[in-house]
Amino acid sequence: MKALIPAAGLGSRFLPATKAQPKEMLMVVDKPAIQYVVEEGLASAADEVIIINSHDKKSIEEHFTPNPALEAELRSRGKDSYADKVAYAGNLNVSYVYQEEPLGLGHAVYCAHDKIEGEPFFVLLGDVLVPDNQMLIRMKEVSDEHNGASVIAVLPVPHDEVDRFGVIDGTQISDDVWKISSLVEKPPVDQAPTNLAVFGRYLLTPRVMELLAEVKPGAGGEIQLTDALDKLLEEEEMYALVIDEEDGFDTGTVESWLDTNNRLYKRFKG
Ligand code: G1P
Repeated sequence: MKALIPAAGLGSRFLPATKAQPKEMLMVVDKPAIQYVVEEGLASAADEVIIINSHDKKSIEEHFTPNPALEAELRSRGKDSYADKVAYAGNLNVSYVYQEEPLGLGHAVYCAHDKIEGEPFFVLLGDVLVPDNQMLIRMKEVSDEHNGASVIAVLPVPHDEVDRFGVIDGTQISDDVWKISSLVEKPPVDQAPTNLAVFGRYLLTPRVMELLAEVKPGAGGEIQLTDALDKLLEEEEMYALVIDEEDGFDTGTVESWLDTNNRLYKRFKG
């Protein structure tokens, strides 16, 4: 299976910090946010991690490219532990496809359609960090229990925050699994069917790529992955894994990014 990481967005919510620096390169505790996501993809059942990048965000690619000069300089100064970190990041196995225009998450995912070749695939959004790397593995288990169906991670959020997310409706079938009946992207608070918010981890069947080719712009005038998934429900079953607050860390707003830095700092160093 392949893991896709869309990273071509404008990072508007973080301006001006993201004027000359991709949002994905903002540091969380001690490394860029996107490094957590790449490591998670590689730690899961995925055999290839593909970043869907924009041509303007070359620093993401530089981060995952070896830098022998910097490494040698650090070693010559006796700073081997830092040199090891440089070598590690530069050798993570990542490839790239490009999204020429930021037309939405659905469009970004579709940019990798040539890479999918009729197999299920993961999508990992960089706004969400899963430092223990266990979520995709659990999602694969749920998919296997349901004949290879699509599975998405959802997090219960306060009702007044649902309009920031994709939201699911459905029926609870076990402690942490729901069978999904519909999805809606960024519903007004008073129209959200539940408070179960799509949380940035998806295991999808290849049919999603075909549906994305036809999906029209939705919420915010963007081509939405959520809309393609809602269409998929006309043909296939789909399940939601309900995750716990402690499993996933949101970095999608300045506030949640600061909060995640504090919580992860305590977890790693506390
Ligand atoms: C995207 C998805 C949304 C999901 C969210 C999670 O929205 O479209 O369904 O709930 O990520 O972070 P975005 O944050 O890109 O607007």
